[in-house]
Amino acid sequence: MITDAINKRYSSLSETTCCLSCGGAINYANPLVGEVCVDLGSGRGNDVVRLAETVGNNGYVYGIDISEGMIAKAQSLIEKFDITNAKIIQSNLENIPLQDNSVDVVISNCTINHASNKKAVWSEIFRILKPAGRFVVSDIYATHEIAAEYKNDPQAVAECWAGASTRATYLYTLEETGFESINILEESLPYAKGKAEVASFTVTGKKPIDKIR
Ligand SMILES: C[S@@+](CC[C@H](N)C(=O)[O-])C[C@H]1O[C@@H](n2cnc3c(N)ncnc32)[C@H](O)[C@@H]1O
Repeated sequence: MITDAINKRYSSLSETTCCLSCGGAINYANPLVGEVCVDLGSGRGNDVVRLAETVGNNGYVYGIDISEGMIAKAQSLIEKFDITNAKIIQSNLENIPLQDNSVDVVISNCTINHASNKKAVWSEIFRILKPAGRFVVSDIYATHEIAAEYKNDPQAVAECWAGASTRATYLYTLEETGFESINILEESLPYAKGKAEVASFTVTGKKPIDKIR
């Protein structure tokens, strides 16, 4: 299964100093004191700690990740920094265990490309955001449709390219989900990755103020 491959790969990476991050979503998120934030694919928990320190004790941060290894690393990081306003939750992003309309800002770095059902992930982001809540997501997209033979290859998915959508599909999914004010904040030139050509970008958008779900 793809998720098993991801768990294995990231559990093993969590023991190294390897960083696969493809962007700086947190640098654009501008979290405010008292806000509730979520980091999807929180990895070792570095951004969870930064967010928790910024939102302060009247705010709260959830880090969500599928990998046992990453969960353990992130957990020990928040303990090391004595962070009491954050929680690390092991979950697939396609089914996020948080309440509807409960989050001010969702960030994510280089993670959503891994999800086999990206529409489900974006629907979950929409569901958990409060009306007028925002997302800032850094991710990679493929410059051409990835060949079918690689789409379900667990190793290629875990290497961050087989699951990549094209730019047009990515942006269409955001619009289709119902987000507004969709805006690309930064974008790389295309580069080779595995057997594909990809690019990375940081995109933001918000849930309309009149939407409850
Ligand atoms: C490339 S790492 C990025 C980690 C962190 N955001 C960073 O910038 O360093 C991707 C992370 O997403 C997690 N991940 C991948 N697929 C996932 C899924 N379907 N649901 C939840 N987490 C997932 C992995 O376990 C890994 O920790």
